[in-house]
Amino acid sequence: MSDPQPGFSTRQVHVGEDVASATPRATPIHLTAGFTFDSFQQGVDHFGAGVGFGYTRIGNPTTDAVERKLASLDGGTSALLVASGQAAVTGAILSSAGAGDHIVVSDHIYEGSRGLFLDVLARFGIETSFVSDIRNAQAWRNAIRPNTKVLFGETISNAANRLLDVRQVADIAEEHGIPLIVDSTFSTAYLQRPLEDGAALVVHSTSKFISGQGAVIGGVIIDGGHFDPARDGARAPHLVAPGAHGDASAAEKHGGSARLGWARDVLVPRLGPSLSPLNAFFIGQGLETLSLRVREHSRNAAVVAAWLEAQPAVASVDYVGLPSHPDHDLVERLLPRGAGSVFTFTLHGGRAAAEHVIESVQTFTHMTHLGDVRSLILHPATTSHVHATPDRRADVGVHEGTLRVSIGIEDVDDLIADLDRAFAGLPTEAVTA
Ligand SMILES: Cc1ncc(COP(=O)(O)O)c(C=O)c1O
Repeated sequence: MSDPQPGFSTRQVHVGEDVASATPRATPIHLTAGFTFDSFQQGVDHFGAGVGFGYTRIGNPTTDAVERKLASLDGGTSALLVASGQAAVTGAILSSAGAGDHIVVSDHIYEGSRGLFLDVLARFGIETSFVSDIRNAQAWRNAIRPNTKVLFGETISNAANRLLDVRQVADIAEEHGIPLIVDSTFSTAYLQRPLEDGAALVVHSTSKFISGQGAVIGGVIIDGGHFDPARDGARAPHLVAPGAHGDASAAEKHGGSARLGWARDVLVPRLGPSLSPLNAFFIGQGLETLSLRVREHSRNAAVVAAWLEAQPAVASVDYVGLPSHPDHDLVERLLPRGAGSVFTFTLHGGRAAAEHVIESVQTFTHMTHLGDVRSLILHPATTSHVHATPDRRADVGVHEGTLRVSIGIEDVDDLIADLDRAFAGLPTEAVTA
């Protein structure tokens, strides 16, 4: 007589758990909160020595596969995916700064990062000084204090396309034994690799170009692997001190990648901004075509920016790929493969003209996002920068007639035709200065 079958409730939970093993071509999505331990010892080894995977907040094979690809493309030793670009900036800063510390930040950054520093990190006791003249080495040096723990900037800045001379600022960081953290969201590893120019950590919002399809939010921190306990340990005691339970320090466990190791072992598991493996899958899918898309984005942007600059309705175009941009002299050295595809332009006709263009375009999508395969348009003064003071808006080139575009990979003639049609409807007085 055969064994009696388990009951209905037991079968509905357990039948089919023994999934057939096969080798999928696409990275499998390990959509699971945790992983079974096949033996008593496996559980011991996971919790004791961090071997294998136990719980997705701490690590997941899908996420791990995408992290390895991201680290390789940026020339880093290791990468840590987190729930958003905002979480990546937060994690990168907190890997090096804590209460009582000070950070020095480029004034030309995404408003969300600025808000993080001023509204949130300030409450954690981390003070921020901003550097406006980011090409001026002395301005960076002057801002550094004995308790400065991080220098931070964006490769191509959100809004006015200011370029950070990563090598110059990394050398200043090195003089003082401070890590330079660079947000490379606008350039991506295809156009620029700040770690090769001396940055300690790079962050990206993977929600943008890296995913490309605009379906998921995510962020990544990538470590260049140059942490030196003897040189850098004094400014980062948490990385060289024994772990909370008397175990090895982050520097002993992770060597040159101690900052990222500490973020992976301590910061993200404790704070909890882990990425869903489903999002990791979409980010990984996007990465496989990053070079093709970014090449096309940059080519299209160069054509659209040049066309815009020739239009009588346009007062100025802030695209670093144009010779008229104040940082254009750095492009040949920093961005030889293309100058990116997110920039602003300002219409003579002010807010009314900007509103008319936004309401008239058909191929461009009106939304707050960037790096999508489709072209996007936004009026920063009433959206992304609505809470900034008029002075702050003027400093970053956001005026009433300014529009931000993220140029997609459509046929460039269609993008120009769309803008041309929108401009054609502008009232005569909005067409010249
Ligand atoms: C330069 C830059 N960094 C970080 C972020 C934040 O990324 P996320 O929206 O993925 O949190 C953004 C968002 O626009 C950004 O433009």
